[in-house]
Amino acid sequence: MTAIRLIETIDDLTRTLRFLKRTGCQGFSCSEASLTRLDNWGQARSWPDRQTLADIRAELGNCRRCRLAKSRRQIVFGGGDPGARLVFVGEAPGYEEDLKGEPFIGPAGRLLTKIIHAIDMTRETVYILNVIKCRPPQNRNPLPDEVETCAPFMIKQIRSIAPEFICTLGKFAAQTLLQTDQPISRLRGRFYDYEGIQLMPTFHPSYLLHNPGKKREVWQDMQKLMAVMKKVD
Ligand code: URA
Repeated sequence: MTAIRLIETIDDLTRTLRFLKRTGCQGFSCSEASLTRLDNWGQARSWPDRQTLADIRAELGNCRRCRLAKSRRQIVFGGGDPGARLVFVGEAPGYEEDLKGEPFIGPAGRLLTKIIHAIDMTRETVYILNVIKCRPPQNRNPLPDEVETCAPFMIKQIRSIAPEFICTLGKFAAQTLLQTDQPISRLRGRFYDYEGIQLMPTFHPSYLLHNPGKKREVWQDMQKLMAVMKKVD
C-alpha cells in the first residue's frame, strides 16, 4: 500500500469513527436514524472519481471553456475548510470577488458572514463556493450553457469535500443541484437529499439586501439547519 493510500485509509477511518461518535453509535447497536445516516454517509464517500480540491483547481486551469473568460479578472474557486461539515453554494462572483479571487467578500458576502456566525460557525469552518467560477458581466444571471459548463466543477468540489450538509443560496444553486426549475420560494426551508448529503435551500444574501423582510425566513431555515447539525454532532 502506498503512503498516500495509507493516509487516505486513515483519513477514512478517522472520519468513520468521528461520524459514529456523532451519530451516537455505541458498539454495534445503532438506531434506525443512525443507520440511515450511515447509509447516506457511505454513499457520499463512495464516489469513485473523488479528486482533491487541488486537483480540481488544476483541472480548471486558466479556464476558457465559456465566454465569461473574456470579461473576468480571475477565477473564484472557493474557500474554507476542505473537510467542512457544511458547504454554502452561491451563484457567481461579483465585482469584489472578481477583484480579489475570493467568494462572497462583497456586500452579500458580509451578510453571509453574519449568517454563518449566527449559526455558531465561521468562514474558516465551512466551505464557500459558487456554481459559476467567473463573474458574469454587470453581474447578469448566468446563462444555461455557462451553468452547464461550470457546474461539473462545483459537483467535483462537493464530492471532494464530502460534507454532511449543503446550504444553497438562491435559485441557481438549488435548481442546478436539485435538477429542478421550481422557484426558490417553493424550494427553500426544507431538506432534500443530494447524493446522501442533506441539502437546505434558502434565499440568496443579495436578495436579502433588497428584501430585508425575507431575513426572517432565512433565519428559520438556518435554525432548522442548526438543529439537525447539532443532532448529529
Ligand atoms: N454572490 C454569489 O453568489 N457569490 C459570490 O461569491 C458573491 C456574490
